[in-house]
Amino acid sequence: MYYPVFRPRRLRAKSSFRQLVRETQLKVTDLIYPAFVCHGKGIREPIQSMPGIHHFSIDALQEELKLVQAAGIPGIIIFGLPKVKDERGSEAYAREGIVSQAVRAIKDKFPDLLVITDVCLCAYTSHGHCGVVANGKILNDATLELLAKIALSHVRAGADMVAPSDMMDGRVKAIRLLLDETGFDQVPILAYAAKYASAYYGPFREAAASTPQFGDRQSYQMDPANAIEALREVYLDLQEGADIVMVKPALAYLDIIRLVKDTFPYPVAAYNVSGEYAMVKAAAQKGWIDEPRLVIENLTAIKRAGADFILTYHALEAARWLSKA
Ligand code: PBG
Ligand code: ZN
Repeated sequence: MYYPVFRPRRLRAKSSFRQLVRETQLKVTDLIYPAFVCHGKGIREPIQSMPGIHHFSIDALQEELKLVQAAGIPGIIIFGLPKVKDERGSEAYAREGIVSQAVRAIKDKFPDLLVITDVCLCAYTSHGHCGVVANGKILNDATLELLAKIALSHVRAGADMVAPSDMMDGRVKAIRLLLDETGFDQVPILAYAAKYASAYYGPFREAAASTPQFGDRQSYQMDPANAIEALREVYLDLQEGADIVMVKPALAYLDIIRLVKDTFPYPVAAYNVSGEYAMVKAAAQKGWIDEPRLVIENLTAIKRAGADFILTYHALEAARWLSKA
């Protein structure tokens, strides 16, 4: 008779054993909740392709934030829907732009809630690209100044951290320099460092009305086939002054999260994006999967891969499920 010396099942036999030897702990404080904010009053408009997620006017968002705070979620990332779109995305950096208004209102009522802002042009430009366009081309250096202006306007409104998502070369440095010059040297930058040109952003573009009106984003976002290139992107952003680097999307890019975490001694964030969320919701609506278990499994996998925290549309529900577990 063969007796295995080591029996892995021993430590799986009781939930108390399993807890003792669990390697990854997903906590509510690992989660950041994305919020879409629009002009108007009393608006809580469901986003079709993202069940459970809404467009909020500032007043309605504040109601939602009571739940976010009560759930123990430490922060949110804000995406704005402007009143007007133009060639240069001018509402993105306007003092009365939607994000600046929202940040002021939120920090006023929820001073302890971490408010991160997405810094980009695509939701504000008539052409829907993340940079300035001339002759059908997305101009890199002409965009940097605008991105820095956007970041500064958010920080002046009270944002705790800015997150550039455009993927122009050199934008972290441009933002860092302007923030330092204006007395905001203590405001960190969360750089969307390895951001892939992904089909997983489909539902978000409906939510943010940010679909490019011509072409696609492959000239600035990364090729999904590349991993080493992610290290170059992360390296550059860190050299330019990024405090935290982000990998996006998350679930199809767990190898990239691990690679970045093992290569650089910096915090790594992961964005569990709209398409990843929509797939889970669709399968759950059909009754094909156990949604709470699947969501906790997915988020745990992202942490296990090396993410320090996760931006996820599941945050509010996951926080409730975690507190019951
Ligand atoms: C804007 C931006 C996008 C996302 C975050 N910031 C969309 C894009 O690049 O097209 C995607 C988020 C998601 O899909 O949940 N640059
Ligand atoms: Zn963009």
